[in-house]
Amino acid sequence: MELCFATNNQHKLDEVAARLGDAFTLKTLRDIGCTDELPETSGTIPGNSRQKAEYVWTHFGESCFADDSGLEVDALNGEPGVDSAFYSGSRDASQNIQKLLTNLAGKPSRKARFITVFTLLLHGVEHQFEGIIEGDIIGEPQGTGGFGYDPIFRPRGYDKTFAQMSSEEKNAISHRAQALGKMIIYLQSQIS
Ligand code: IMP
Repeated sequence: MELCFATNNQHKLDEVAARLGDAFTLKTLRDIGCTDELPETSGTIPGNSRQKAEYVWTHFGESCFADDSGLEVDALNGEPGVDSAFYSGSRDASQNIQKLLTNLAGKPSRKARFITVFTLLLHGVEHQFEGIIEGDIIGEPQGTGGFGYDPIFRPRGYDKTFAQMSSEEKNAISHRAQALGKMIIYLQSQIS
């Protein structure tokens, strides 16, 4: 089965390709001739995930899937959420982290969660798959691995941040890996 992954992120493509198995041929946006900027204007994580997949299905007629993720902090009413990538007004991870730590200073709760939603459009029929990992925002960045908010997110039950974990450790528990795992189980049920 051929499936397009509606992303330009090579790391995500590699992670998904490694887990998808031989029964699926993964196509990139470039493979299907899509050079357009995919829309992400819905205001929610599931909505943006859906928008990106729908764009590919509508304009290119390809069965496809898309993902969208973000960090929700309880004491900030769920911010940065859907705005995680550009929270500080730029994509710069250290500026995003600084803004978050400043906004969180003095708040009693540091509870947060990462969320990913994959939207699969199989011959135009939609299925969504969610992955969530709960944790806490620590006071100062710790660790050099990963990306984004990894240095300040410590998953519940662990004594280190995502940025202090190996990519294998993070990928065994992360929001993205959980959502992807659910989608793969569904896809495999469709071909067996
Ligand atoms: P995306 O939808 O996967 O591109 O994620 C949007 C933004 O959420 C990223 O630019 C990061 O700021 C943040 N984010 C998503 N997943 C992670 C993660 O695993 N670690 C750290 N930050 C993340």
